[in-house]
Amino acid sequence: MASGVIEKIFAAGYDRFMSGTERAGLHERRGALLAGATGDVLEIGAGTGANADFYRDDWASLTLIEPSGPMAKRLRTKLAAKGQSPKVIEAGAERLPLPDASVDTVISTLVLCTVGDLDASLAELRRVLRPGGRLLFLEHVRNENEKSARWQDRLHKPWKVFGNGCNCNRATAAAIEHAGFEIEVLDHDSLPKAPPVVRPMITGVALKPA
Ligand SMILES: C[S@@+](CC[C@H](N)C(=O)[O-])C[C@H]1O[C@@H](n2cnc3c(N)ncnc32)[C@H](O)[C@@H]1O
Repeated sequence: MASGVIEKIFAAGYDRFMSGTERAGLHERRGALLAGATGDVLEIGAGTGANADFYRDDWASLTLIEPSGPMAKRLRTKLAAKGQSPKVIEAGAERLPLPDASVDTVISTLVLCTVGDLDASLAELRRVLRPGGRLLFLEHVRNENEKSARWQDRLHKPWKVFGNGCNCNRATAAAIEHAGFEIEVLDHDSLPKAPPVVRPMITGVALKPA
């Protein structure tokens, strides 16, 4: 099947596929994470707008980037229905159309698993953040248990097709540190009601040092 067709199916089914996980606690965890956002805020891979309930009027600005046309279309529809009008740009995290040091907070929820080039994306997030700015992340990651991680490695290829480019076995916290962030908060958790291959989850805050 052509990847454009998979992208459309993924976008059309995303909210329904995630609804049980959202109700079982993901939605609440999103709220807790976004409570830490301040100033000029950038969300990468905003998808269909799953974080929109937690966008706040007291932020200086909000910019959403989303590279998938079908996801961006649903995002715009959801924002319009909620009466929200942040800037939506169709772009990937590897090449952000934003100036250096122009953002105080970056939000990434379930995105760093999917970006094509994780290191390039993290370097871009660091570039656009002001010194002292923060990356707020909620990501499913590589299992800390080596036996379970080997299962993720085995299932990586089929899962990547099913998940529209999602990598189930990324050691994302290590990559964030490697990109020059200081991790201030790191909680290990489970993505509720998710298949075991994507169940290990981290939430946290990473600082771009001044
Ligand atoms: C699993 S969905 C998560 C959507 C949303 N952030 C959420 O929390 O529900 C992954 C999202 O990342 C987007 N994405 C894929 N490649 C990307 C890239 N290179 N840069 C930014 N976002 C990307 C996808 O289009 C999709 O909307």
